[in-house]
Amino acid sequence: MQTMWAGRFEKKLDAKVNDFNSSISFDARMYAQDIKGSLAHAAMLCAQSILTIEEYKAINDGLCAILEELENGTLAFDPTAEDIHMFVEAELTKRIGAPGKKLHTARSRNDQVALDLRMLLMDEAGAVSDMLLSLEEVLLKKADEYAETVMPGYTHLQRAQPITFGHHLMAYASMFARDLDRLADCKERTAVSPLGACALAGTTYDTDRYMTAETLGFDEPCANSLDGVSDRDFVIEFLSALAVIMMHLSRFSEEIILWCSWEFKFVELDDAYATGSSIMPQKKNPDVAELIRGKTGRVYGDLLAMLTVMKGLPLAYNKDMQEDKEAVFDALDTVKLCLPVFTKMLGTMTVLSENMRAAAAKGFINATDCADYLTKKGVPFRDAYKITGQLVGYGVKKGKTLEEMTLDEYASFSDVFDADIYDAIDLAACVNKRTSYGGTAPDSVYDQITRMRKRLNL
Ligand code: ARG
Repeated sequence: MQTMWAGRFEKKLDAKVNDFNSSISFDARMYAQDIKGSLAHAAMLCAQSILTIEEYKAINDGLCAILEELENGTLAFDPTAEDIHMFVEAELTKRIGAPGKKLHTARSRNDQVALDLRMLLMDEAGAVSDMLLSLEEVLLKKADEYAETVMPGYTHLQRAQPITFGHHLMAYASMFARDLDRLADCKERTAVSPLGACALAGTTYDTDRYMTAETLGFDEPCANSLDGVSDRDFVIEFLSALAVIMMHLSRFSEEIILWCSWEFKFVELDDAYATGSSIMPQKKNPDVAELIRGKTGRVYGDLLAMLTVMKGLPLAYNKDMQEDKEAVFDALDTVKLCLPVFTKMLGTMTVLSENMRAAAAKGFINATDCADYLTKKGVPFRDAYKITGQLVGYGVKKGKTLEEMTLDEYASFSDVFDADIYDAIDLAACVNKRTSYGGTAPDSVYDQITRMRKRLNL
């Protein structure tokens, strides 16, 4: 095809270079944003008397028809076009002639592409947020259901202190709530319109950048034209918000993978969310969780790719920046693929409360409570800690848990021990007593759920 700049060049563009240079195969995804941006631009040009009403009407009708036909599939993208912006403009000019050639007045593809991508990411931030909210809904429901289920809490993957499963789930609910904040925050900085920055320096036309910004749902126009076309930090911020979401999903997936193993058996995945083995008949594999953990790497890769693309670029626009779209689309598609399956997998998962509780009964998980018992009876914490350590050492040797030791055995380590030690180390009591703000006691978990529902409007 004839390039837009054929006047300046003596030769046609090499076909392979055209393919290499072209971005329509992936930026066609922004067609709706591109056309809406052009509609707003044309309306502004008309309001500022840069276009006549007739020209504006022709442009407006032409663009609306193109949008409709692309939407219903009657118009196909031209794969030889350089990008979506060139395609729409060429298609418009083919249809309406001379006025089509005026659309690009006081604009450049440099501000156009930045505009389109900002618009798309603002929409997508909303779509990802909706998915996160669905996940939160499932988490809150399950946390409520298992607010009293005792399980081992771990540090270093060693049994540490008993907690409730509801508390464990609410930890993730808090993480995903911050992910929602991050998206909202990033959306706020993305809502600054670059349209009208033109190629890099602004324009000699009397344009109204506030008008286009407002029409397109932006808070304001960007204050510096060079910044408007050069910066991609909104893409990097969005990518890092996505990377953090994946990091959270991946940690949670890792736990689910562990919990599914015979060594833990804390949960059982629904048959619809697990796979079998082609050779080992006994296997039920947590493929979904593993794939999410695996896909986290590619989203990190997308973030790193963009940080690297941008790090050495002189102002203003450089073609390197065309790489932004594939990276951010890939990350976006990955997150949007993972979130709903993860939510469904979690929602349908069976919790094996008995196994959780049985695991919590082993491993001297109530040792801190034993030390606290002594402390509350006046023994300095360091001494109480030492006495309890000796008791644990004794129990390991004898194959006895703290609950199984007799009062005489206790007495041989300290005469402070009384029959009420058994109440103090009872697992349910250990959990129920941790009512400090944000603690693991069921009452505290119910309180966390109420606050989270309020915060998320759920
Ligand atoms: N396809 C280009 C991109 O994605 C659009 C902007 C091109 N501008 C230019 N001056 N070559 O970045």
